[in-house]
Amino acid sequence: MRNHLTRRQVLGAASTGLLAAKAARPAAATDKPALLGGGPVRSAPFPSWPVIAENEERAWMQVLRSGKWNRLDGDNARQFEETWASTLGAKHCLATANGTSALIISLNALGVGPGDEVIVPPYTFVATVNAVLLQHALPVFVDTDPETSQIDARKIEAAITERTRCILPVHLGGSPTDLDTILEIGRKHKLPVLEDACQAHLAEWRKRKVSTLGSLGCFSFQASKNLNSGEGGAILTNDTDLYQVCQSFHNNGRGDTGSGFGYVRNGANLRMTEFQAALLIEQLKRVEEQSHRREQNAAYLTKQLAEIPGIRPARMYPGATRNAYHLYMFRYDQSVFAGLPRARFLAALRAEGVPCSGGYTPLNKEPFLKHTFDSRAYRAIYPARQLAEWQDRNHCPANDKLCEEAVWFTQTMMLGLREDMDQIVEAVRKPQRQAEALIERS
Ligand SMILES: Cc1ncc(COP(=O)(O)O)c(C=O)c1O
Repeated sequence: MRNHLTRRQVLGAASTGLLAAKAARPAAATDKPALLGGGPVRSAPFPSWPVIAENEERAWMQVLRSGKWNRLDGDNARQFEETWASTLGAKHCLATANGTSALIISLNALGVGPGDEVIVPPYTFVATVNAVLLQHALPVFVDTDPETSQIDARKIEAAITERTRCILPVHLGGSPTDLDTILEIGRKHKLPVLEDACQAHLAEWRKRKVSTLGSLGCFSFQASKNLNSGEGGAILTNDTDLYQVCQSFHNNGRGDTGSGFGYVRNGANLRMTEFQAALLIEQLKRVEEQSHRREQNAAYLTKQLAEIPGIRPARMYPGATRNAYHLYMFRYDQSVFAGLPRARFLAALRAEGVPCSGGYTPLNKEPFLKHTFDSRAYRAIYPARQLAEWQDRNHCPANDKLCEEAVWFTQTMMLGLREDMDQIVEAVRKPQRQAEALIERS
């Protein structure tokens, strides 16, 4: 990698917030792990998030000064919906307060309710499952494919019963889940597929944007997301009838798009504000370039990390033509690191200047599920035998193992420079060389 930046690279770096990372060069590394007092592989921060520039400030102030802060008065939410729908190639987009409300609205529109079962992955953010529970439906967990960290589509059919009402797969970390298999199962069993694309902005399955292949698809624009307005969400669909139900439900069940008193169903206020929409319109201008940079860095990182014994980057399915890399995920095999426990490996990486986490814990084992099923409402809806059997149907051993082995990097790290990726690789290699010392001194 050259040490100077061209003008074009400087402009690109400025737009993704990279100059600070470039300016602060890494400290000289020694082979002694930083956790044991050696010099860290890197001392510079990774690119900060969110990217804020003049255009965001201008757009924000325009909404503020207009006094039209609510979408029923302003035009930003509508504009954002049009742009996001056309970017993704969908007929309709509905902006929502956040990703959780997008899921709740979608489940309502699909008629999911008490007594229904919804197929979900155990390896996801809790909101996927909470949205199902808020409908007083039963989440049915299907184990994870450890090679990809996605729901194991080959195991979905065995989980379907006459009570199944919807399949809710997640494109976890921005990597498309096996949509060929899932959509085929949906068709065969006449079940709608609701795509949780909350982490998968611009990801593609066979060159089509995820969220547009199922009956409905949901996004989150919460602060950490690749497209961000602090909070925010959206529903994408090509089905005009479903869109109209979602639109109405999210606007207190009104029969039109306005603020009158004509109600046609129950609903809630789950509308996006004009401030959120204005920020999204501006952030959208960078999303393609940022996404491209993440893909390039992630491809490079995968090539390097795959060469390290005991490190297995999450594989993509052959139909996945674009990964959003909201998370960069790999599995860590401690036996190839002289038995160095994952927690110690993570601590060593952090000490080397590489932020990381161990990712999710098994959702299907969360104690709050039992509390929910013990609630008065659940006991009134479900026979005791069905709730007792639920436990036996929801073991996910592959997911349990993945939760013990996973290591994650965040999307902002993938916005760095090539040399940042080299430093990540070196920070992973170092604990392998020094595993015994790290174990001895733990
Ligand atoms: C997979 C997944 N589903 C749903 C959500 C919920 O989105 P929000 O936080 O915007 O409500 C998130 C957000 O983190 C998510 O990662």
